[in-house]
Amino acid sequence: MVARDLDHLIHPLHSRKIHESAHVWVKGKGAIIVDADGKEYIDGLAGLWNVVAGHGRKELAAAAAAQMETLGYCSAYAGSSNLPAIELAEKLSQLCYPSINRFFFTSGGGEATETSIKVARSYWKLRGREQKTKVISRQWGYHGVTLAAMSATGIKSYWPLFEPRVPGFIHIPSPYPYRYEAPAGESQGVAAANELEKAILREGPGTVAMFIAEPVQGAGGVISPQGDYFQRIREICDQYEVLFVADEVITGFGRTGKWFALDHWGVEPDVIQFAKAITSGYFPFGGVGINDAIAEVFENSTSPWMHAYTYSAHPVGCAVALRNIRILEEEDFPKQAADKGEYLLKGLQAALGDHPRVGEVRGKGLMCGVEIVKDKSTKEEFAASENIGARIDKEAQQRGLFSRVRGDVYLLAPPIITTHNQLDSIVDILNDSVKAVLG
Ligand SMILES: Cc1ncc(COP(=O)(O)O)c(C=O)c1O
Repeated sequence: MVARDLDHLIHPLHSRKIHESAHVWVKGKGAIIVDADGKEYIDGLAGLWNVVAGHGRKELAAAAAAQMETLGYCSAYAGSSNLPAIELAEKLSQLCYPSINRFFFTSGGGEATETSIKVARSYWKLRGREQKTKVISRQWGYHGVTLAAMSATGIKSYWPLFEPRVPGFIHIPSPYPYRYEAPAGESQGVAAANELEKAILREGPGTVAMFIAEPVQGAGGVISPQGDYFQRIREICDQYEVLFVADEVITGFGRTGKWFALDHWGVEPDVIQFAKAITSGYFPFGGVGINDAIAEVFENSTSPWMHAYTYSAHPVGCAVALRNIRILEEEDFPKQAADKGEYLLKGLQAALGDHPRVGEVRGKGLMCGVEIVKDKSTKEEFAASENIGARIDKEAQQRGLFSRVRGDVYLLAPPIITTHNQLDSIVDILNDSVKAVLG
């Protein structure tokens, strides 16, 4: 199968060398996925952070089948709608931040980022502020890889083959509590947030449309900010009239222990984007929610908002999302994620925290990162050529744990339904794998 695949398939992050030892996944049950050799793995990243309800959920399959039999597709362009889309938008307006009550649906996270950028630019244009077009984002931020989303993404390895990037995209440092160096006497969180103010002043407030940030940076290394970071970000965005876009593609729908993650810090964004867990990955789906102030400007506009996807508000995606959200509510996923996340983090810290090469074990809700360093006292990293993260990943796979790394940070975000025994196995496997590579 892998030989046939190599002949004809191009993969995301395509690399022939990596792909020569590919798994061909054939089935899944709960937190377990099985490859074509019949070997079972714990799905340590819930697919790509999305399969929160776990594999093999018959309710989701039934919801998709029922909707496909009734109406498999219809346009949602202005002039057309469908009942699952209406119900989903209503439901999200109840679940989401109070000021966010209007939703646009996409097929995934990258399209959601594109949509947020267009929301911000069009909002300012409709208010007569034509020059406000720039987008500020952060190092280690991941917002997808369509061209504008890639330009907002702050993980540099995604850029070189595809440059030039879209002009007008600016990056500021990540708050990265483990590594950000604040001036003496200043709160690290406030200093990191003030990087945004400096960038806005450098660019000119009259040219900046929006700031986009993941509440907890996911693909960049599970980086959860300081407690005072987002409050200061909100103040800065208000002061300079910059829209604050929360990219909750990973953190939305319970992953961090709250339905939406800025709730941890009592902050509301102007725009939220989501994807992944809204359907537990069973249907490609995402979207953007806008606050009432932006909605009012759009509603008073006389010209159409010329942004559209064929699969916006896909009735099957909406039906699966609605059914999935019912699971999240009935099984109280935010609470489960908070409890199990604490359990996993404690287990990882107990097993790995004292290892001389483990710089930091961190997490928020059921997403954790284990950062390996060459020198714990200086936080010096290993040379990339030593491939420490990739080697640990390989050892973990041999022991039955499948996830991803960012450099030498091992990432974990298993399905929310993962059992405590499986969480124990994750800790044991990662501990053995780190020892196998680093002693
Ligand atoms: C925070 C965040 N935003 C956007 C995206 C892009 O989503 P997609 O891969 O569905 O385009 C991702 C994907 O991992 C993500 O983690």
